[in-house]
Amino acid sequence: MKKSNINRTRNMAVVACALAGVAHAADLAVTRAPFATMPDGAKIDVYTLTNENGIRLRAINYGTIVLSIETPDVNGDFADIVLGYDTLASYLEATPYFGAIVGRYGNRIAKGTFTLDGKKYTLAKNNDENALHGGNVGFDKVVWKAKALKEKQRVGVELNYLSEDGEEGYPGNLDVTVRYWLDNQNTWTIEYEATTDKATPVNLTQHTYWNLAGHDSGDILGHQLRLFADRFTPIDNGLIPTGELRPVAGTPMDFTNLKAIGKEVNAETEQLKFGLGYDHNWVLNSKTDQKSGLRMAARVVEPKSGRVLNVHTEEPGVQFYSGNFLDGTNIGKGGHAYQYRNGFCLETQHYPDSPNKPDFPSTILRPGEKYKTRTVYNSRPRRRRSSSETLLSLPKPRR
Ligand code: GLA
Repeated sequence: MKKSNINRTRNMAVVACALAGVAHAADLAVTRAPFATMPDGAKIDVYTLTNENGIRLRAINYGTIVLSIETPDVNGDFADIVLGYDTLASYLEATPYFGAIVGRYGNRIAKGTFTLDGKKYTLAKNNDENALHGGNVGFDKVVWKAKALKEKQRVGVELNYLSEDGEEGYPGNLDVTVRYWLDNQNTWTIEYEATTDKATPVNLTQHTYWNLAGHDSGDILGHQLRLFADRFTPIDNGLIPTGELRPVAGTPMDFTNLKAIGKEVNAETEQLKFGLGYDHNWVLNSKTDQKSGLRMAARVVEPKSGRVLNVHTEEPGVQFYSGNFLDGTNIGKGGHAYQYRNGFCLETQHYPDSPNKPDFPSTILRPGEKYKTRTVYNSRPRRRRSSSETLLSLPKPRR
């Protein structure tokens, strides 16, 4: 969606909306409306979060899916910068996890099995011989309870799901709450919480596919990416970490400075062949900010639109996936077919296969403990560039 001349100030934005004839709310507000009905009759609602800058995030209580995020570019023109579908039917038919929270264990568990407290558990295998993103019916494919949230500084939606003992092979009743918040600083905050009655692995993440030039604008190879990580977890040909933490320096995995995603994505290295491109977990080593409790995970700059995305998290890792499995078969919003590498994901999380890797940070949640973690995506257009300004003059976040 295009809308011209949106000014940074609220009043100007309202006037501009009216002039452009676009019914884009420019208030900090949350609304709920019916979206669709599940085959079993369950009602799915869409929650629309808006802020004073006209930014709009729409999410549903099926799979906690974020349907769209509309933000302005450097000229104030709005576009929807995440991939997805128009209808529930499309999400039910086939989705590569567009916009969803994945769990109970985001990413892979080797051979769909792990041993915990001496007991061996067998999970649903849905990725060749491995378990991926929670199994056949993961958290992205269930109906969540939802309610709108409103505070003075932010609006949100709270989503709750009880994953029963034994679901997809996982032990324990896991009570999960996810909150999406939007504020006037253009920050989308995700809060995750969970409790269990038996020890279980938990690793929740958000699987939104971004394309900061607009969801229907083609490949993401020109986006510039920085990852706040000096090491990554190399994988085998089934995308399972070997257990090593390998330095990125001097390899195509090095994103310690802004670099176009496309620059080395096709380099002839074993790791990029195994991943079919980037589909790896990076080991974050930026400093945690004392005040917010968050550390920088990633920064993305899309040079044409001037949109910038910063990702902060409490998690130790981030899976950067360059959309290597997109192949044009997913017909998305507005009838647009998402082709190879038309979107990328930055999935903050614990490392893949942690339940089988004693040296990785633990993902085990025990009764009486609380799983509590946060990730923050902040999207803001860069200031209009003066002719002398270059990408290198972007303010450098603290490490
Ligand atoms: C994650 C995985 C990828 C792929 C996508 C969904 O990012 O790491 O290998 O499964 O989800 O297609």
